Amino acid sequence: MAFSQEFLDELVARNDILDVVSSYVHLTKKGNNYFGLCPFHNEKTGSFSVSTDKQIYHCFGCKKGGGVINFIMEEENLSFPDAVRFLAKRANMEVPEETEDREASRRRARILELNRAAARFYYENLNAPQGQAVLEYLKKRKISRKTAMNFGLGASLDQWDSLLTAMIAAGYTKGELLAAGLVVQNSKGRLYDKFRNRLMFPVIDVRGDVVAFGGRVLDKSEPKYMNTSETAVYSKRRVLYGLNLAKKTKRPNIILCEGNIDVITLHQAGFDNAVASMGTALTTEQIHLLSRYTKELVLCYDNDGAGKAATEKAIELLRNTEFSVRVLQLPNRMVDGQPVKQDVDDFIKLQGREAFEAILSGSENQVEYQLAAVAGKYDLQNDAQKVEYAKEVSALIARLPDAVEREIYAGRAAAKAGISAEAMQLEVKRSRQKQAGRERSALRQEALNPVRQAQPRERSIHYTDVRSAMAEEGVIRLLLRDESLYPLCGGLAAEEFSSPLLGKIYGALLSCQGEGRCPGINALAPLLTAEEMDHLSGILQKPEDKSRSRQALADYIGIIKDACQARRGDSQVDPLLAAQEKYKTKKGYGGKQHE
Ligand code: UTP
Ligand code: MN
Repeated sequence: MAFSQEFLDELVARNDILDVVSSYVHLTKKGNNYFGLCPFHNEKTGSFSVSTDKQIYHCFGCKKGGGVINFIMEEENLSFPDAVRFLAKRANMEVPEETEDREASRRRARILELNRAAARFYYENLNAPQGQAVLEYLKKRKISRKTAMNFGLGASLDQWDSLLTAMIAAGYTKGELLAAGLVVQNSKGRLYDKFRNRLMFPVIDVRGDVVAFGGRVLDKSEPKYMNTSETAVYSKRRVLYGLNLAKKTKRPNIILCEGNIDVITLHQAGFDNAVASMGTALTTEQIHLLSRYTKELVLCYDNDGAGKAATEKAIELLRNTEFSVRVLQLPNRMVDGQPVKQDVDDFIKLQGREAFEAILSGSENQVEYQLAAVAGKYDLQNDAQKVEYAKEVSALIARLPDAVEREIYAGRAAAKAGISAEAMQLEVKRSRQKQAGRERSALRQEALNPVRQAQPRERSIHYTDVRSAMAEEGVIRLLLRDESLYPLCGGLAAEEFSSPLLGKIYGALLSCQGEGRCPGINALAPLLTAEEMDHLSGILQKPEDKSRSRQALADYIGIIKDACQARRGDSQVDPLLAAQEKYKTKKGYGGKQHE
């Protein structure tokens, strides 16, 4: 594993979580803990807490949490080793020779170097005879040589192993090519290029590293786009295509669009503030990343069903953030009297940059957009439909937190349908009361339903056996609170856990302890993804009676073992063990998952 434990222990000791967090968040003491406004989501009452005795932070609102190293990883958007270096610098400590960590970061550096070499290879193919098809395609899409160069576009060739051969010749190993996701292995074990006969888009992060690739076919075949899967240097949740360029824009906002070509077309037309989340919904990590560069986002998704859904989802995710959000709606194009949907790329190419500039400056804020979308669903000449419209639109307005805003939009929505403003205000008030009632009963439901409450919010961490998982959480909580309990866990193996994540955490704690190191939350930081760490910090928030921890531990172990026995009895081949075996070989317990 990473840095030496003595070093990490000292680093954590010299970077008290309260001091570190205080330089980002204003904290006030309440009881044993400190509270403040969460830096990871927007809120008016502080649900962000720091516990000095546990040395962790946890937000009861957005559920983010972890140790001091995690806090810096999230806040400064750094990898684990970089967060460690950041804190070392802060505490005026010298970073010692890193042994195995140096190995891991050397591997990462090699992948980045390989990606860069591959990007260069693809780029140079544009000048080779075999790359002409892609060059033709660029022409057809009206992408200039200059733009292509700016984005480092290239061509993968119509051959099974041209990249493989070139990179091996340049000194990279097959293992490195696999780790970078540039080649794949068939069932017979033969390696071949992942990207073939495609227009290649290197994905460059804000540090300027080539972290991944996208590749588009040149014809109508499927899949239209292929992207690098997750690697040691690439997590698609944390990267936005084009942000390496858009971060330098002089424009006041950033435009979020759907596709790579949209970004490129916009930049070419002078909108150098365009980025895209490549074929996935916008994530909270991307929002946090964007917050470093702008406070205003313009959503510019396609004008079709999927685009509208993506817009709604993004508005939802951005609702409680500090961003001001506007939605740019592309008009349909009329062809032979029929409306035809178009995306940004079509629009710029057919209507030109001035037309785009005009709708950009006239784009609506998210509330106006949603109101217009509702109005569009009804025939406001029809009285019955007017009533339905008033109901739906008032429910929307009722959700706005600001009273003045509610009044303004209620007035506007009323005028649109020829209803009196007073009637609409009344309808909004009624909706608000109804919503508050629903929220209260939902909270009550949640409190009355321990199984649902126990189920993690993050879907990928889903518990298949909630009862066993609660006991597994208990074991972890106790071990992290009281090191003297380790010897009592002798008979419990990580494989007996029902939750792969909790088993992984438990296994890691045991091996840290076995190596004579202090198995605190910071030792787990390099092993867990941000979501997993958030989940763990939530586990540590739950109460545990300190005076009877030995008995509690024994009870938990009993529950886990019984549940495990029951599962094993259910089937000859234990699916859990099989799954864990698979998980282990796939990622390795020390698997790097953070960057
Ligand atoms: P679109 O299908 O809207 O593509 O997907 P596009 O941007 O209009 O592409 P062109 O104009 O036909 O070339 C939007 C984005 O979703 C991702 C790509 O990043 C694409 O740019 N995507 C799409 C995939 O990852 N896989 C796919 O199969 C399709
Ligand atoms: Mn397109």
